[in-house]
Amino acid sequence: MVSSSSFFFLFLLCSVLFLSDEATSLPELPNLTTLSFEEGYTQLFGDSNLLLHRDGRAVHLALDQRTALLGAGFASQDLYLHGFFSASIKLPSDYAAGVVVAFYMSNGDVFEKSHDELDFEFLGNIRGREWRVQTNVYGNGSTAVGREERYQLWFDPTEDYHQYSILWSHERIIFYIDNIPIREVVRTQAMGGDFPSKPMSLYATIWDGSTWATSGGRYKVNYKLAPYVADFADLILHGCAVDPSDHKTACQRSDAVLYDAITMSADQRTAMAKFRKKHMTYSYCHDRIRYPTPPPECMFVGPESQNFLASGDAKFNYRHRRGRRYGRSSVDAVL
Ligand SMILES: *[C@@H]1O[C@H](CO)[C@@H](O)[C@H](O)[C@H]1NC(C)=O
Ligand SMILES: *[C@@H]1O[C@H](CO)[C@@H](O)[C@H](O)[C@H]1NC(C)=O
Repeated sequence: MVSSSSFFFLFLLCSVLFLSDEATSLPELPNLTTLSFEEGYTQLFGDSNLLLHRDGRAVHLALDQRTALLGAGFASQDLYLHGFFSASIKLPSDYAAGVVVAFYMSNGDVFEKSHDELDFEFLGNIRGREWRVQTNVYGNGSTAVGREERYQLWFDPTEDYHQYSILWSHERIIFYIDNIPIREVVRTQAMGGDFPSKPMSLYATIWDGSTWATSGGRYKVNYKLAPYVADFADLILHGCAVDPSDHKTACQRSDAVLYDAITMSADQRTAMAKFRKKHMTYSYCHDRIRYPTPPPECMFVGPESQNFLASGDAKFNYRHRRGRRYGRSSVDAVL
């Protein structure tokens, strides 16, 4: 035990020495602070299945039989046009098949037919199999074109909090895990309205996805093992809060420029490429069955494609689908 923990510290030290800070630090934004629940959020549903902790700076969301139909969730008080949105999340442990935890932005309640959406979705699994993470993007009601990507994590997301973030500007969308960029969507002319362009709220929810979440619905939520609890902390809402009916004028020019100025350094780009090579298990861009002609932004994915089957599944995932466990819980496992 002693030697393995000193190895671990040596390992951490090496990770710190070999990684530039740039690859894993938060974007540089003025006044980037965490909020209490009351400062920025409001409960959506779930009654007492939403509980505040740590002086109102952390939120428990629980799913049990009582709230099975809706789950539990909260949302930002405001809608935002662009910004940086983040939370540290700890997922339910053990058997969690059918359980879905979502951290996402949407304006579906304001624009029913032409909504925009940016998603992190966490899909629970049977005992001994890991949670999977999915990201997705919709713009102007583009629900006919799913832009899903799925990933394995390099850590056990049920053991501790990890930070999940979304940057959204005029120019680009970047998804981050523990500040490592894992996906970038750059706005192109061809994408048109499919790039989200209207103010959105931020949401965090837990719900019953028994019909699809685990092995296409084969494994359902088992309420004998409830409650399933997801914890949220380090809540960041750094955005241009706007009135949805008048969104063009509400944000100060200087704020908009802040978000547009965030791009990726060469180190971050390298870190993202490595993450995707090792951990991305599915991408719509490579799914030739669903999209014989890939959506326009997929032209830019480049050499990644050699690692994927026509189904969009990663070749490595196909070979090693069974028996994989989490490796070293260090950033170095990605980079
Ligand atoms: C940051 O916060 C301080 C104090 O609340 C405020 O005076 C300042 O204008 C803020 N800066 C920006 C760029 O929002
Ligand atoms: C969004 O979709 C509507 C139709 O639902 C269309 O009229 C509008 O031009 C689209 N906006 C963009 C930016 O593509």
